[in-house]
Amino acid sequence: MTAEKLGDVAATSLVTLYCHALETQSENPVLLDPDAVRITRELNRRLAGSGDRLHRDLVSGRLNPALVVHICIRAKRYDDYVREFLAKSPAGVVVNIGCGLDSRFFRIDNRQVTFYDLDLPEVIALKKEFFDETERYRFIASSVLDDRWFGSVRAHEGPFLFVAEGVFMYLEADAVKALFTKLADAFPGSELVCEMFNTFWLREPLLTMMRFKMQRQLNFGKDAVFRSGIRDGREPETWSEKIRFLDEWSYFDADEPKLGWLRIFRYCEFMKRTQWTVRYRLG
Ligand SMILES: C[S@@+](CC[C@H](N)C(=O)[O-])C[C@H]1O[C@@H](n2cnc3c(N)ncnc32)[C@H](O)[C@@H]1O
Repeated sequence: MTAEKLGDVAATSLVTLYCHALETQSENPVLLDPDAVRITRELNRRLAGSGDRLHRDLVSGRLNPALVVHICIRAKRYDDYVREFLAKSPAGVVVNIGCGLDSRFFRIDNRQVTFYDLDLPEVIALKKEFFDETERYRFIASSVLDDRWFGSVRAHEGPFLFVAEGVFMYLEADAVKALFTKLADAFPGSELVCEMFNTFWLREPLLTMMRFKMQRQLNFGKDAVFRSGIRDGREPETWSEKIRFLDEWSYFDADEPKLGWLRIFRYCEFMKRTQWTVRYRLG
């Protein structure tokens, strides 16, 4: 698979990758991701002649600075979620759902974890050009919604941590609900950390405004749209008695000077819950 031919949703992984690379090379970086720098150098060569507006923006580093900081604060927090899990369960199993081209494994590796990177086959095919699988670092080339992947993960004893950073909003609501309940049935005692979008913004005319912004300002493809979300972090508890809300986090909570004036949103619960992260106990 070539980076130029990724589908619209899969291509969003290029955006987060380039955000990591730009931030890593900036002054006082929020996140250090040398693999992102390495991969984008190679992709720049391949995408240089592309007529796609998103590709042109990526290659020339034309990314919204607020987006870059936001994506990197989020990645850093998700690294910490994994580290917190491994502090309790050093030989635990982590599944990075919708991993994109991110190199989290190499940032958190404690020499004991088993780490699965799961994404659509086209993304994993590209990822394999840059990373090798090992005994403890493995790829799953599948939609997260095709539960045949459960088998290889369940072959381990656990405990299990699932993380889904910037993924579930691209899926249909029923599919997300079904995934939560299936994970809760198949992996009792596991933890799920996932970013959710607020359904408040999925109503007209807000939805049209958001799609306009994603397509015209960020140059996302027309299929890379947010499709689902929740209103409240506890909402998934109503989907199954095996889902228990633990806590939630917003990037406005981050103690990060690069957030600048956006830090004032930490005092506004409504804004904090536009797109935020929730942690659940399953099973
Ligand atoms: C915005 S990117 C985020 C990538 C990575 N988590 C990060 O933060 O850098 C969204 C990712 O979700 C993946 N994705 C979307 N739908 C998926 C599905 N049904 N199954 C697996 N991955 C999916 C896309 O291919 C893409 O890599």
